[in-house]
Amino acid sequence: MNKELSLQEILEWYLCAGVDETCGNEAFAPIPESPAPRQAAGLSVRQATTGLAQATGSACQNAREICARASTLEELRAEVEKFEGCALKMTAAHTVFGDGNPQARVVFVGEAPGADEDRIGIPFVGRSGQLLDKMLAAAGLERSSCYITNILPWRPPGNRTPLDSEIAVCLPFLQRQLDIIDPDYIFMLGGSAANALLNTAETISRMRGRWLEYEKSNGRKALVLASFHPAYLLRTPGQKAKAWADLLRLVSRMKEQKN
Ligand code: URA
Repeated sequence: MNKELSLQEILEWYLCAGVDETCGNEAFAPIPESPAPRQAAGLSVRQATTGLAQATGSACQNAREICARASTLEELRAEVEKFEGCALKMTAAHTVFGDGNPQARVVFVGEAPGADEDRIGIPFVGRSGQLLDKMLAAAGLERSSCYITNILPWRPPGNRTPLDSEIAVCLPFLQRQLDIIDPDYIFMLGGSAANALLNTAETISRMRGRWLEYEKSNGRKALVLASFHPAYLLRTPGQKAKAWADLLRLVSRMKEQKN
């Protein structure tokens, strides 16, 4: 095994463990074996960063290739369940793929499964999901008529904020679900999900309340609304009225376009 390859392996090991950033100027110590492989001792921060970026890039490419092979949601689900390019899978109990009507006119997108979703394997089944279900039913949208999914199919340990690299690797899975379903509307649950799909850094307070667009790979655009995440609404009930107004705006536009 040559020196380059060994270095790459160490970097990949770090990436798999969820470490995708370096800080400080000192080279990090290798992890896998003890005593540590000698060639890693001289690793510079720049080399480490480059290696991590390359590993993320190749996992993204792999995810995109897998997606291109899947033409149905079931095929895609099977591919995502087999995928080994995201470290989150190692700590998750289940792959939480999307749930609902494959022909839905509207897709709801959250950030990542929580503990209940990880245990059961279905998105939005915990407290946030129960609130979402109630809101949908009250707005006249049955959950079973919609499709519900997340940016990430695996729970980040302890519900930590997902890393940019994890989002980048998993985004093709969401994009492919949207291509296959081809919805007219997408409703983003929370600012992080909206930022990831729409590739923006705007705050949810600035994004909510206005129509946005998402272009699917067939060139057709879905209308997008972004609103507060149900978990945030549980913590901040004073914001429920705004989220409710967002949902009603969606339902009324869907009704208008049907007639
Ligand atoms: N929060 C999310 O963003 N997604 C879920 O599936 C559950 C909670």
